[in-house]
Amino acid sequence: MKPNNKIVIAVDGHSSCGKSTMAKALAQRTGYIYIDSGAMYRAVTLFCIENGLVDEQQHIDEAGLKARMNEICIEFRNNPETGGNETWLNGRNVEQQIRNMEVSNLVSPVSALKFVRTAMTAQQQSMGRQKGIVMDGRDIGTTVFPDAELKIFVTASAETRAKRRWDELKLKGQETPYEAVLENVRNRDYIDQNRAESPLRKADDAILLDNSALTPEEQNDWLYQQFLKALSK
Ligand code: DC
Repeated sequence: MKPNNKIVIAVDGHSSCGKSTMAKALAQRTGYIYIDSGAMYRAVTLFCIENGLVDEQQHIDEAGLKARMNEICIEFRNNPETGGNETWLNGRNVEQQIRNMEVSNLVSPVSALKFVRTAMTAQQQSMGRQKGIVMDGRDIGTTVFPDAELKIFVTASAETRAKRRWDELKLKGQETPYEAVLENVRNRDYIDQNRAESPLRKADDAILLDNSALTPEEQNDWLYQQFLKALSK
């Protein structure tokens, strides 16, 4: 039992599989800090778009981005109205903007760049130094926190995930054809799983969760039980 000890929880998995929802709920229930590592890659992508580092063919100016990495400051600031953390890029709240389709379509190639991953990984590791953190992403259990006390790998079918993402976008007033969302989900899966740097894969010691048939409440309860077990080890 570790009554006074805090642990590190890594929640990895495919895009739009509900990782963030369950990771956030666990953080709230435990008083842990929640970090959405995907938001950091999305913020770098937005920086590229806003600074002319992407051409019309969606080609990223890698040398240009590398030279400007030190101009990128990403922070998570609490929004007192919602109680949640929001993503800020160079002093500006970009929480909404980083979720749009333009960013979603470019984020996988940006996050495949080695120098981008090295910079983000270093920031993420420093956020977890005091433990008491739930971080979700693609490589948290394999690369960022290979010694995390609890590792979860979440998945669901591409169609289920596209439908969830489409519902989310619709709620935000962003009308996108379902087929375009499904294609984006499949493309991101492919790039995330096949990139050379920290590809998406389940850590050997991660617990696999297919949540296709679970309600959010069921998956939150399941995760909380895993947390209690990990804490008592
Ligand atoms: O979780 P998300 O869909 O917001 O993540 C956006 C992209 O960032 C995703 O396509 C892959 C990348 N990503 C990553 O490479 N490593 C992480 N730890 C988190 C996200």
